[in-house]
Amino acid sequence: MSENIHPTVFKITKETRSKALGQQPALIWFTGLSGSGKSTLANGTEQALNKLGFHTYLLDGDNVRTGLCKDLTFTKNDRVENIRRIAEVGSLMVDAGLIVLSAFISPYLSDREMIRNLVGEDSFLEIFVDCPLEVCEKRDVKGLYQKARKGLIKDFTGIDSPYEPPKQPFLTIKSAEMPLNEAIENIVDALLPKLKH
Ligand code: ADX
Repeated sequence: MSENIHPTVFKITKETRSKALGQQPALIWFTGLSGSGKSTLANGTEQALNKLGFHTYLLDGDNVRTGLCKDLTFTKNDRVENIRRIAEVGSLMVDAGLIVLSAFISPYLSDREMIRNLVGEDSFLEIFVDCPLEVCEKRDVKGLYQKARKGLIKDFTGIDSPYEPPKQPFLTIKSAEMPLNEAIENIVDALLPKLKH
């Protein structure tokens, strides 16, 4: 099929668009266990960047899984497909000149490498939200760990499905060891030099 597809070469490029927006587009990729704080940190970071005048967009696992990816489960194949779709959408948004934040468990190293290759090394800023399983499980904000322990949910990350931590993330945030505002400050400080035009 794809041999009959001939993509159009656009006259307006990523550079043109990012210049117009006055920023360096990027995909800021939060990865970590369920309950580690990805969504909260991504939300807070987006607010801070927005206040500074950046043009942003946030993609979040629980939201995307009610729309674009609502046909997907948590088997390995479906998680790979989930991340592939998000990577494609994120990549288009980066091409549009936006600073995209994403919060997905994205448990597999190979998937996150795929995103890095798709978006480009310079534009892919991986943030590892490092929080011990015991802490996530104790918080159990959504009550899912308890269900997983009882066997009511299968393939739950950290329980009966793996999580592969990044080897060389752009930044690691130990979310259980610092207050939220401090974590957000650290993230924004690290990001700013990468996002300014
Ligand atoms: S990913 O592994 O495919 O990247 P994603 O980030 O989209 O996962 O979705 C994770 C969210 O789905 C969790 O925060 C949790 O609320 C919910 N969830 C439901 N079932 C599972 C499961 N089996 N494993 C992990 N998260 C689950």
